[in-house]
Amino acid sequence: MNIKNKVAIVTGGASGLGEATAKHYVSLGAKVAIFDRDNENGSKLATTLGDAAVYCSVDVTGAKSVEQGVAQVIERFGAIHIVNNYAGVGTATKTINKDGPGDYELFKKVIDINLNGTFNVCRVAAFEMSKNEPVNESGCRGVIINTASVAAFEGQIGQAAYSASKGAIVGMTLTLARDLARNGIRVNSIAPGLIHTPLFDSLPPEVYTSLEGQVLFPQRLGNADEIAHLAQMLVENDYMNGETVRMDGGIRMQAR
Ligand SMILES: NC(=O)c1ccc[n+]([C@@H]2O[C@H](COP(=O)([O-])OP(=O)(O)OC[C@H]3O[C@@H](n4cnc5c(N)ncnc54)[C@H](O)[C@@H]3O)[C@@H](O)[C@H]2O)c1
Repeated sequence: MNIKNKVAIVTGGASGLGEATAKHYVSLGAKVAIFDRDNENGSKLATTLGDAAVYCSVDVTGAKSVEQGVAQVIERFGAIHIVNNYAGVGTATKTINKDGPGDYELFKKVIDINLNGTFNVCRVAAFEMSKNEPVNESGCRGVIINTASVAAFEGQIGQAAYSASKGAIVGMTLTLARDLARNGIRVNSIAPGLIHTPLFDSLPPEVYTSLEGQVLFPQRLGNADEIAHLAQMLVENDYMNGETVRMDGGIRMQAR
């Protein structure tokens, strides 16, 4: 599907990978709706991107919140063709702590945002996509790209909740693609490795260097632009469906 003149929702678009993808899509001629709960950075980015972008204050875990956000996009841009789900948190929680059992509420919160939030956006946006006329000879009406992580496959110590949430994203990729095939909607997921986002700026230099050293080749962290480029490929290639693509420089994370 050609990206020019299409309408994309990018959740978690106020920061990191979402921000890079929102900017990239606009540079390719798309209209972008940034769904985030970080109102300050989200509106700032939308203002920078001009008429091609709108910021919608959305908590992806809320049914009403997402329904209102999607309605706002339809009102502003008239349709939805692309969804990139990046909204997520990586809060660590061990199975047991020194003083007792691990934090169950934290576990549920990570699952709620990373997994339930992703499905919530998929269900509402896909219904709107299903109303589109096919946009090309393949009969494509829309493309959904969810975000897993290499932690879906090699979760580290303290990542039980995060790995479970991302493993579930991988698990539902084919199922969503099967659900939506009759509607002409493709669904894929990206499983990033270590990608440089502002979070990594606060790491001590020796920790940063050690992380780079774990990457097979090239021995550096990935750039958010490289993820945005993969998103572009997944939208443009009509034969990509039901797949999770690792993008990680060949890294296989160790236990810690
Ligand atoms: N950066 C990496 O190295 C990396 C690696 C693997 C996977 N990922 C995944 O990629 C995605 C983006 O990561 P990032 O590094 O850009 O993170 P980030 O923290 O820079 O951005 C995440 C965004 O999601 C938003 N968000 C969080 N909860 C939300 C909610 N309930 N509703 C709406 N918005 C919400 C935040 O406000 C933030 O703007 C995440 O799902 C993350 O797990 C990142």
